[in-house]
Amino acid sequence: MKVLSIVNLKGGVGKSTTAIAMAHLLYVKKLRKVLLIDNDPQGNTSRTFECYDPTIEAGTMNMLLTRKSKENIWNTLYEGIDIMPCNLIMEAAEKQVLLDTESAQHNRYIEALREIENEYDYCIIDNPPDIGMHVINALVASDQVIIPVNLDNWSLDGLEELVQQVKQIKVLNSKTELAGVLITNYEKSVTSEAAERWLRERSGQPIYHQKIRHSKQTKDCTVYHKPVTEYSIRCGASQDYKKFIEEYLKQEGI
Ligand SMILES: Nc1ncnc2c1ncn2[C@@H]1O[C@H](COP(=O)(O)OP(=O)(O)O)[C@@H](O)[C@H]1O
Ligand SMILES: [Mg+2]
Repeated sequence: MKVLSIVNLKGGVGKSTTAIAMAHLLYVKKLRKVLLIDNDPQGNTSRTFECYDPTIEAGTMNMLLTRKSKENIWNTLYEGIDIMPCNLIMEAAEKQVLLDTESAQHNRYIEALREIENEYDYCIIDNPPDIGMHVINALVASDQVIIPVNLDNWSLDGLEELVQQVKQIKVLNSKTELAGVLITNYEKSVTSEAAERWLRERSGQPIYHQKIRHSKQTKDCTVYHKPVTEYSIRCGASQDYKKFIEEYLKQEGI
């Protein structure tokens, strides 16, 4: 099982959209078995898969507390996609973990995921826009990190710091690598072209060749609780995510 974290300290850059589209395409196009972990108390990914319940202590928060994964996984309507849901109770769970000075705080997910190592091809973790202990746990458990970015004003601020944070995780797990930065919600403009040039030529970070275009359908599909790649197969963003998956798998040598 390859574990992949989708991370950015900024909100609204396309983390959940990317995690959901990747999980959906890896299953429907490539027949891979995917576990999607919602690590964001907002629960947007859980809602997309009709697995959001704000009242119950279940899913990812339980994994953080108990170091167990299997019993916290729910089925979705897609045979090849399972989910570990999240809700706001995660915030209380995180506080509880921070108060626990008896046992290690950062290695709970990596230990938990060993239990299901042979049951999935991919585990994709959708993260919230912060660097709390549950995000540290996700990074430590990850083989790869993908950072979605937007190219509008200020969006690239903080990228350098985030990349440094990913590098620091190597002390805790030497396998964790930045796989690449993915430009999402792309609209052509003088500013976005200049930002892209800087990113590709000057940032020193690996940038995926494929960008994800801005498509109105990406917002619309959230109302219907569907991945954009199912809601509108032909829209620009879906086409781009399909090409991105090919690029991602090629990078893997597949
Ligand atoms: N390619 C895109 N085109 C248009 N809207 C997008 C695109 N990607 C994301 N969005 C919209 O932007 C908002 C934030 O995206 P989301 O994936 O929830 O970001 P994050 O998880 O980083 O907070 C959502 O309303 C989403 O539908
Ligand atoms: Mg999100």
